[in-house]
Amino acid sequence: MPEFVKVARLSEILPGKCFKADVNGAKIVLFNVAGQIFAMEDSCSHLGAPLSSGYLGKDSISCEWHGATFDLRTGKALSAPAKDPVPTYPVRIKDDEVEIAL
Ligand code: FES
Repeated sequence: MPEFVKVARLSEILPGKCFKADVNGAKIVLFNVAGQIFAMEDSCSHLGAPLSSGYLGKDSISCEWHGATFDLRTGKALSAPAKDPVPTYPVRIKDDEVEIAL
């Protein structure tokens, strides 16, 4: 059973922005899309660019290096050159605390 770990305060993740966190040695990025928080590994599955530097869409993130796009909910690669998904993590919010399950 995955364990939820506190990674940020909700107030630290502004709408349309991201928040980077190091969780048990894993580089995680949280995105706030119109108040909904998504968590994924901060590494593009193509050549490892930080997705925290990418371009945030309504339900996707585009890598700034070569333009691959990933679904924020599933991590699925939606466009080339990436083929593999990026790991995503369940998010739970308790009051102002944002937790993800690892
Ligand atoms: S490193 Fe992300 S598309 Fe190439």
